Amino acid sequence: MIMKILVTGGAGFIGSAVVRHIINNTEHSVINLDKLTYAGNLESLNSVANSERYIFEKVDICDEINLKRVIFNHKPDIIMHLAAESHVDRSIDAPNNFIQTNILGTYILLEQSRQYYLSLTNDKKAIFKFHHISTDEVYGDLLHPDDNNLGGELPLFTENTAYNPSSPYSASKASSDHLVRAWEKTYGIPTVVTNCSNNYGPYHFPEKLIPVVILNALAGKKIPIYGQGKQIRDWLYVEDHADAL
Ligand SMILES: NC(=O)c1ccc[n+]([C@@H]2O[C@H](COP(=O)([O-])OP(=O)(O)OC[C@H]3O[C@@H](n4cnc5c(N)ncnc54)[C@H](O)[C@@H]3O)[C@@H](O)[C@H]2O)c1
Repeated sequence: MIMKILVTGGAGFIGSAVVRHIINNTEHSVINLDKLTYAGNLESLNSVANSERYIFEKVDICDEINLKRVIFNHKPDIIMHLAAESHVDRSIDAPNNFIQTNILGTYILLEQSRQYYLSLTNDKKAIFKFHHISTDEVYGDLLHPDDNNLGGELPLFTENTAYNPSSPYSASKASSDHLVRAWEKTYGIPTVVTNCSNNYGPYHFPEKLIPVVILNALAGKKIPIYGQGKQIRDWLYVEDHADAL
């Protein structure tokens, strides 16, 4: 079945990999809804922008009127929600945008999705999904075996691990996960929440860890270590992630 997929945050690092993947490897069409913050980069979509299965809408998910217009005009079968403020360091310096976009924006998107879902026929309702892309940082920090009280074991998160966010970013994402689950339980909208680890790969924003390390190394500059250098990060190649989503 050929579907219309609304991708929020499709000009971002992971969102653009999802959009490229859908256009290049499926027959589905994409509506890319993105506010184009500092993190949005339409050049990452040059290879698919001319496809007749691709449409771009420059809209803020907090802008209820335009969000409604896009959803009701394009009538997506699936909504994949990747629009977010995503950089932990920025969330520590200025948490406001994180609360606005990640919490309030997700709430506004859920409400518009709920109204849209209610307007669908039963056949369309059976297909519809709201897919919320979140982070494993909602479960807390991965601590080095020297510091984690696990007797030398590496720490591991599962879907059943209790939420324990530690930064304004991860707290705002945890909050949005709870809202998505509440909208399914309370209103019956079919949802999926995925909590991936750190991504790396093409079009990664230069201020993120792996690009910083590579760029500093190429320039012969010092490579920054965060804290005591004991944090553990799992890494996922962004195109594998887009394929899985
Ligand atoms: N990058 C990672 O390693 C990683 C890991 C785990 C989870 N995630 C999650 O995956 C999702 C995508 O992450 P990313 O790395 O691609 O983020 P990103 O910062 O690269 O891109 C975010 C995109 O959302 C857009 N956006 C921001 N605020 C918006 C708003 N109010 N309305 C509409 N668009 C808006 C930006 O313009 C940008 O294009 C996020 O929800 C993030 O929390 C990312």
